[in-house]
Amino acid sequence: MKFFIPFLSSLLVLGCTQESKPPKSALDAPSNPVVAQTHTPPRETTTKVPTDGASLFTQQCASCHGAKGEKSALGKSKIIANLTQEEITHALKGYQSQSYGKEMKAIMEGRAKGLNEEQIGLLSDYISGH
Ligand code: HEC
Repeated sequence: MKFFIPFLSSLLVLGCTQESKPPKSALDAPSNPVVAQTHTPPRETTTKVPTDGASLFTQQCASCHGAKGEKSALGKSKIIANLTQEEITHALKGYQSQSYGKEMKAIMEGRAKGLNEEQIGLLSDYISGH
């Protein structure tokens, strides 16, 4: 009998914790907006990744290479506007595969890795055309 009372009271406690369930399901409610938020990445797909060489270059490259690639980036790079399309493609792909570059190549490796084949084409066309 000694153990029976604690047993009963623990049942009661259990009963209580179960009764406190309704507020729990109320807690579930706020998680719904959270779920709704995770379903809003359409924003990401609409973030502007330029699909033309000029905008891409202005956005990602001009700060170092000059508006038209006419500057030596950080005083170290070639004047890329003077390179041919093939040379630019070769350099960008080389930075991607870490087979091209000089002492400051780490800067370009990071950037080149963010470019896809199409963007390299667009950029090479744009830079060599100016
Ligand atoms: C933070 C400054 C910076 C930005 C931004 C930058 N570059 Fe460069 N770029 C450099 C530097 C510095 C070098 C020389 C790296 C080396 O030592 O090989 C270089 C080299 C190059 C070369 C090879 C030229 C050579 O000297 O052999 C090409 C092509 C090039 N960049 C294209 C681009 C393109 C395209 C973008 C935009 C997607 C870009 N860069 C963005 C700094 C930058």
